[in-house]
Amino acid sequence: MDKKNNENLMEKIVSLAKRRGFVYPGSEIYGGLANSWDYGPLGVELKNNIKQLWWKRFVQSRDDIVGIDAALIMNPKVWEASGHLATFSDPLIECKACHYRFRADQIKGLVITQLPKDEYNQTHSFSLTNSFCPNCKTPGDKAFLDSKISKFNLMFKTFIGPAEEQANVAYFRPETAQAMFVDFKNVLDTTRKKLPFGIAQIGKAFRNEITPGNFIFRTREFEQMEIEYFIREEEWEKWFKYWQKEMIDWIKELGVDTKKIHEAEIPDNERAHYSKRTIDFEYEFPFGKKELYGLAYRTDFDLKNHEKSSGQNLKYKDAETNEEFWPHVIEPTWGVDRSVLVALLEAYREEKDRVVLKLPLKLAPYKAAVFPLLANKPELVKLARKIYDDLRKDFMVAWDDRGNIGKRYYSQDEIGTPFCITVDFDSLEKDDVTVRDRDTMKQERVKISGLANWLNKKLGK
Ligand code: GAP
Repeated sequence: MDKKNNENLMEKIVSLAKRRGFVYPGSEIYGGLANSWDYGPLGVELKNNIKQLWWKRFVQSRDDIVGIDAALIMNPKVWEASGHLATFSDPLIECKACHYRFRADQIKGLVITQLPKDEYNQTHSFSLTNSFCPNCKTPGDKAFLDSKISKFNLMFKTFIGPAEEQANVAYFRPETAQAMFVDFKNVLDTTRKKLPFGIAQIGKAFRNEITPGNFIFRTREFEQMEIEYFIREEEWEKWFKYWQKEMIDWIKELGVDTKKIHEAEIPDNERAHYSKRTIDFEYEFPFGKKELYGLAYRTDFDLKNHEKSSGQNLKYKDAETNEEFWPHVIEPTWGVDRSVLVALLEAYREEKDRVVLKLPLKLAPYKAAVFPLLANKPELVKLARKIYDDLRKDFMVAWDDRGNIGKRYYSQDEIGTPFCITVDFDSLEKDDVTVRDRDTMKQERVKISGLANWLNKKLGK
């Protein structure tokens, strides 16, 4: 795609997503809710395909990783032990002119020179050079000088039960990871896994982000796919490297051009409180180079703290040596919604007479579409309907009998359907159909009785 087209790529994706039922603005009939998005009929298929592909690859087809699906609201003591209550916060600053609030570390020209790490309500030192309020554009020295930067905890608070009092405060989980540590002993006891092994989970996480935005890139409610991979401390570098490669291989499977991926080593002062090494896998989004996924060495921070806090023994016992210790952890983490976004961005093409989503076949919402050549010929409709009903037992298949074939191809290309199957008059005589390929636009005749097998082969099953 040329540079000009790339400039408004996000607008095109957002518009196509709404128009074709991938992603709608949340609560739209009530004027929306800022930065909330709902996945529509095609979006939920794309998202589920990504999650299923991930689950199959990292859980079902491996011997060393098992899955869990934990509660979204956990005992608040979890967040005390994990350090999230004390440190999971962003620096918040308010513009004196318009009273909008921003993440201070995201205002251009505002440099935080001192950021106290683990304490609340401290004034941070900062300097201002050529900065201005991102909302009302008031110059930085009027908007922010002498403002206090407060620490804003990103966890969503709620109350359990009818009484809204401190004793009943709970939090929606800000990461899925903690459940893997909290359930570590149960998983170990029930599966008898030996090191190295991993626990995986896909699920929602919630963060009261100060500045969400860029469509589904940063929202307050999102999904993560995470693995906590338990290892011996002395092997952490080997496993870090191993997961680095696994993450790149996954990125390729999503259809992403790895030239647009940059591995950023996160410096000491910017890493999360639990991490000894973190790499962000950044992608060249149309709005800038930003984090797509992350890989962290969490040491034994979490298990150790949960043991201290819960009083339960969370150590691993080596069956041969009887040695007991807290395993160390390598954590590869993937955002589901960012995966959907990059899959759409990478697949989108504008060609001479069409817009086409060249999604990897495994990700495409519909695997095929079935058309009767003419909608007013009952014998064609009847046969096409039968093929559609048969294929639907095993595949997501679309039906279209509106307009002419050209319009139907255009419509299916735009949502990434890999194959269009047309039933014509020859089909009635020869028991075959025309199958047109989304990417090459070439057509071939395929026997009706062999269609399901043909499709399975194409999908690599
Ligand atoms: N357990 C580690 C952890 O949660 P993170 O880097 O804060 O690490 C992991 O989040 C991934 O979750 C990110 O790489 C990103 O893909 C996704 N993510 C984080 N915050 C998000 C948000 N507000 N909206 C959408 N996705 C988000």
